[in-house]
Amino acid sequence: MSQSTAVLARNVALCSFNTFGLPARAAWFAAVETPAQLVALTASLEWRYLQRFVLGGGSNVILTGDFEGLVLHVRIPGRELLAEECDAWIVRAGAGENWHDFVRWTLGRGWPGLENLSLIPGTVGAAPIQNIGAYGLEMAERFERLEAVDLERGKTVTFDRAACRFGYRDSVFKREAAGRYLITSVTFRLPKHWRPETRYAGLAQELEQRRIANPTARQISDAVMAVRLRKLPDPACLGNAGSFFKNPVVDATTFAQLAARFPGLPHYPQADGAVKLAAGWLIERCGWKGRDLGPVGAYEKQALVLVNRGGARGADVLRLARAIQESVRTAFGVELEPEPVVL
Ligand code: EPU
Repeated sequence: MSQSTAVLARNVALCSFNTFGLPARAAWFAAVETPAQLVALTASLEWRYLQRFVLGGGSNVILTGDFEGLVLHVRIPGRELLAEECDAWIVRAGAGENWHDFVRWTLGRGWPGLENLSLIPGTVGAAPIQNIGAYGLEMAERFERLEAVDLERGKTVTFDRAACRFGYRDSVFKREAAGRYLITSVTFRLPKHWRPETRYAGLAQELEQRRIANPTARQISDAVMAVRLRKLPDPACLGNAGSFFKNPVVDATTFAQLAARFPGLPHYPQADGAVKLAAGWLIERCGWKGRDLGPVGAYEKQALVLVNRGGARGADVLRLARAIQESVRTAFGVELEPEPVVL
């Protein structure tokens, strides 16, 4: 049974709460297990005087030092079928659920739709914040709505898809609404008329190697897991926060100039005529792949992932990130924007 109020702890080490394994302490720390606990917290005396930071699985955050405010660690559980409609299963999960476990649970129930997003680290509640995506699918495509607590007013609110303003690794929660809401649950619409999404080159190759022509959702999930395990470091063994930069998007003219100078430049045309480039390729071309700067390096199998070689601090991560940005700017005239939240 969860308590009616969350317990406030003092001076808590955050090293084990972030997948990069960076050292930092929180002056205050509260584990939130129910939305009611959170609403009660917002009415407490200390609340209005404390700066706040919401932490899920800690897989998309770079801690650069001690945090003098209150860290809210989201541990809200639950997963359930809310409704079965003629064309979809409507499924809700608590924000504290592990994302991958939730994906596998839906597949086990026979509800397809999230398989391409298998093995993404982090929690369900963090998924909408950066609109997680992989292998040709973004979470927004399966999103129905979310519930959150407005941390300023202590009230529960609902956001539909339009209100979330999803973009590529982006949402209102990274912009105008940053820090204002704590997401407590997310509801997904999982399609009954499901079609496999297998256009992403790496996934298509994996399925071909497995000689699977008409994959089930589970087979796609298995293939995605295999590709990820081969290319991406396991945070339990080597600290990291997934892709460290977003793939940069450039206008058509810039792309044409770059493509003429760099044959073989991987690129993904966008609906609006702009072109997305592969940051990993640009970083590799600058010689950073497998190279370290102090205790942080660009991973040897995927240059877009920065890894903790042991004992790294937030400042070390930022130093390498800036050096890489500088190299890519000089070589290609392209700006790389970090993907994780820097605290
Ligand atoms: N590439 C290189 N060198 C590298 C890395 C990549 O040349 O070191 C090239 C690849 O050969 C390929 C292209 O760059 O032509 C794209 O690489 P990859 O398929 O590995 O995907 P990505 O664009 O680097 C994105 C997401 C990942 C997601 C994968 C698969 C972003 C910022 N990253 O990576 O998401 O898993 O696609 O869909 O959009 C994350 O966001 O944390 C993340 C891991």
